[in-house]
Amino acid sequence: MPVTVVVGAQWGDEGKAKVIDLLSKEHTFVVRYQGGHNAGHTVVVDGERYALQLVPSGVLYEHVIPVIANGVVVDLPTLFSEIDMLEARGVSCSELKVSSRAHLIFPWHQAHDAIAEAMRGDDKIGTTLKGIGPAYADKARRVGIRAGDAMDPARFRALVRERGAAESKLITEAGGDPLDVDEIVERFAELAARLTPYVSDTISLLHSGLARGAHVLLEGAQATFLDLDHGTYPYVTSSNPTAGGACAGSGLGPRDIDRVVGITKAYTTRVGAGPFPTELTDVDGETLGRVGKEFGTVTGRPRRTGWLDCVMLRHAVRLNSLTELALTKLDVLDGFERVKICTGYRTMEGELDDYPDRFDVLSAVEPVYAELDGWASALGEAREPGALPAEARAFLEVVEREVGVPIRVVGVGAERDDYLMWASA
Ligand code: GDP
Ligand code: IMO
Ligand code: MG
Repeated sequence: MPVTVVVGAQWGDEGKAKVIDLLSKEHTFVVRYQGGHNAGHTVVVDGERYALQLVPSGVLYEHVIPVIANGVVVDLPTLFSEIDMLEARGVSCSELKVSSRAHLIFPWHQAHDAIAEAMRGDDKIGTTLKGIGPAYADKARRVGIRAGDAMDPARFRALVRERGAAESKLITEAGGDPLDVDEIVERFAELAARLTPYVSDTISLLHSGLARGAHVLLEGAQATFLDLDHGTYPYVTSSNPTAGGACAGSGLGPRDIDRVVGITKAYTTRVGAGPFPTELTDVDGETLGRVGKEFGTVTGRPRRTGWLDCVMLRHAVRLNSLTELALTKLDVLDGFERVKICTGYRTMEGELDDYPDRFDVLSAVEPVYAELDGWASALGEAREPGALPAEARAFLEVVEREVGVPIRVVGVGAERDDYLMWASA
C-alpha cells in the first residue's frame, strides 16, 4: 500500500520505532510529521541500540530516504549530534531531507518551557523541557524561524538576533537569566550553514515520489492521548500526532492514505502527569515497569504503568481511522498468573464504553476488567501464532474483539526480529 501512517494509540513509547523499522523494508520514504526531540524512538539490531529523537526510524535501511517534514519542530544541536552518532556507527544520513517549512527550536523555547513548568508548581505537565510547546506556540503566533530561513545567512542572523533580543527581555521579566544573544546568533548561524544541504521542498518530493510509485511511511511521534486536541488536555504535547496530523504535517492529502497502524503495548504506560484510569501502583505495576524497562528514552524518568485499556484503544480507532493494531511487548506479561484488560469505565451514572469528553469524569472513572489466565512459558522465541501458548492467543483475541480491528504484528522482544505476524494483511 503506497501510504501508511503509524500512530501511537496510547500515551507514547508503544514501540512505534520497532514497527516502523519492520515496515521500512517496503517503503522508500519514512517521514516524521510532527513533534520534535521530545520523541525517543528505539530500534535494536543485533544487540546495537539506536535511540532516535529526530531522524526518522527508517534511516537504518540504505534504501530509505528519511524525511523530516513541515510539521516537525527541529532542534539543530540535537539533529546534528544524532547525525554524527549515526554516521560514526556506519549509518549514512546523506539522503536525509528537512522541510524548508519546518520550524526551528531555539534556546529561548527551552527557557520558556522551564519557566512555564516552574510556574505551574504542583500542576506541572511534566514536559520533556525540550522547548516543544513554546516552539509550536511561536509557529501559531507567526513569529517562528523556519529551516528555509537558513538559506539566506544574513537574513537568518537578523531574524535570530531580533527574536533572541525580544525573548531575552521576556525571560528576564519572568525571572529567568538573560540570553547571550551574540553567542546564540553565532552558534545558530554555523548550525544553519550545516543545515542548508538537507533543506528541501519535501511536499513536492513526496508527491513526485508517489507519482513514480514509491511507498511512503508516515512516522508518528508521541501518541493519540498526547494529542493537543484529542489527548488529556492540558497533559498533552503541543502537536497533533493523530492520523489527521499526518496530512497537515507532511503535505499529503487524506485520500493519499491507505493504511493506519495503531501501536499499543500489551499494557499501558505514561510519562509525566495526567489521568490514567488503569494505573497500577502495586507490585504488578512495579513488575511491568521493571520487566518492560519502562524508563523514558529521552528523560530517563520512570514511566507510570497499568493494564491495557480497550476504551482508549476503541477511541483511538475512531480518531485515527485505524485499519489495524500492532501490539508490542506481549512478552512483558510472561509469568503473570492473571492478566487484566480494561473493557469499560464505571461512573456514578453507570458504565461508559466511550472515552469521556470531560477531564473530571475521566479522572474519576473506575475501570471494568476482563480477567484472563496468564501463561507460564516465555514468548520471546515465538515466530508464528501457533507457537504462542493458548492463554496468550486468548489475550490477543479478547483485544481484537474489544477494539474491533485486527492485530497484525505482535512484538515478543526488543530486537528487530522479535515479532510474529498474528493476522496477515
Ligand atoms: P516509541 O517511542 O513508540 O518508538 O517506543 P520507545 O522506543 O520509546 O519504547 C519502546 C521500548 O520497548 C524500546 O526500548 C524498545 O526497544 C522496546 N520494545 C519494542 N517492542 C518490544 C517488544 O515487543 N518486547 C519488548 N520486550 N520490548 C520491546
Ligand atoms: P515518543 O514519540 C511519551 C509527554 C511528556 C509530557 C507531555 C508533554 O517517544 O512516544 P512535551 O515535552 O511534548 O511538551 O511534553 O508529553 N511526551 C511523551 N511521552 N513518549 C513521547 O514520545 C513523548 N513526548 C512527549 O512526558 O507528559
Ligand atoms: Mg519513545
